[in-house]
Amino acid sequence: MSDNIMIMKGNIIFTPTMGQFKVLENSYIVVKKKQVIGTYGELPSEYNGLPITDYGDHLIVPGFVDLHSHAPQFVNRGLGLDLELLPWLKKYTFFAEARFEDVSYAEEVYKQVVLELWQQGTTRVVLFGTIHTEATMKLMELLAQAGLGGCVGKVNMDRNSPEFLIETTEQSIDDTETFIKNTLDKYERVKPIITPRFVPSCTPELMMGLARLAKKYQVPIQSHLSENLDEIALVKKLHPECCNYASVYQKFELFGQQPTIMAHCVHSDELEQKLMEENSIYVAHCPYSNNNLSSGIAPIRSMINQGIAVGLGSDVSAGHEVSIAKVMAMAVQVSKLKWLDTKKEDRFLTIPEAFYLATKGGGSFFGKVGSFEEGYEFDALIIAERSLADSNQRSVEERLNRFIYIGDERDIVARYVAGEKIDRPEF
Ligand code: GUN
Ligand code: FE
Repeated sequence: MSDNIMIMKGNIIFTPTMGQFKVLENSYIVVKKKQVIGTYGELPSEYNGLPITDYGDHLIVPGFVDLHSHAPQFVNRGLGLDLELLPWLKKYTFFAEARFEDVSYAEEVYKQVVLELWQQGTTRVVLFGTIHTEATMKLMELLAQAGLGGCVGKVNMDRNSPEFLIETTEQSIDDTETFIKNTLDKYERVKPIITPRFVPSCTPELMMGLARLAKKYQVPIQSHLSENLDEIALVKKLHPECCNYASVYQKFELFGQQPTIMAHCVHSDELEQKLMEENSIYVAHCPYSNNNLSSGIAPIRSMINQGIAVGLGSDVSAGHEVSIAKVMAMAVQVSKLKWLDTKKEDRFLTIPEAFYLATKGGGSFFGKVGSFEEGYEFDALIIAERSLADSNQRSVEERLNRFIYIGDERDIVARYVAGEKIDRPEF
């Protein structure tokens, strides 16, 4: 039995339920192969004599989940953030993505991306690549090599796009099928995801073709929804027959027929939220991005109340921070503005609520990920607040709060994904 058992000791903190930390000080977590067996104040006698990795006073928390980011935009972080979405795409983003036709350039950038994700404690990530199949497959290879988990999409764009970053409908569908076939069973924890960029850049024929592929290969779907007012007006112009943005995805069978992530949903009203709930849509809430592109503040409390699944996203490079800890803090901050905006009707997020979104909330997209309950895949970070020297007595919860707001990668001393210790990638 001992071969497959791993025991860790430390200050365990996680959120089995939304908004409530479970804290076990100086306690044990027992993992068998990749799954958690349990957390214990006293080690059950059956495990006596087995080796224990003792992390002393360090915190043991679930790994962070980034439900939405764009790997090729990594090198553009901090650029053009005084623009709104559509001019930002046109002036900066499309040019940056066009370069990924060159696989060796892609490899150079994607190595940096994977290293940074590892560094910041992101253990699972859902990424947009570019329209380029080979470069996107390289990204998956690097993520898998690093031991991280996630979904990666070859992006689809066949309309309203610059001539240097556009595909024909047929080519876009064919390349996506090739991409899926090549990657579906290639890696244990890195999988393909179908990625129509957003309605303005995909024709109805393309959307329907992608919907067929999603069904045929049982592959999840990701896109953007109701991020920006000019974008929404453009979608209305393109599809006057649809009552809202989400109905366009629904009309072309991309809405919820497979597990589906929609980034942003800043301007989703009650009707759109209802459609999202009915289709079991995951919302990737990206507050840094929404601030930078002056998109607005997403109605997260309202979506949670509707029963919509919500996770957090960095949305690099519209968001300039890779760290999901920082995204958690920003999610709380903007929720306070929303609270004021709604005349104190939409209660702001608490820290344990934001922590839940960043772990179990987003993690549930991958199955049993993001918690230390029995049966969950053991994704964890070991946190020793090296950058936060402080001789005051702090509770475990307070220490985690401080890490979220003012900690950084120096404070993360070890990372685990699905029971495996993941060391710094060597590339
Ligand atoms: N909508 C379509 N493409 C993008 C993108 O690259 N970033 C963001 N934030 N929104 C988008
Ligand atoms: Fe995005």
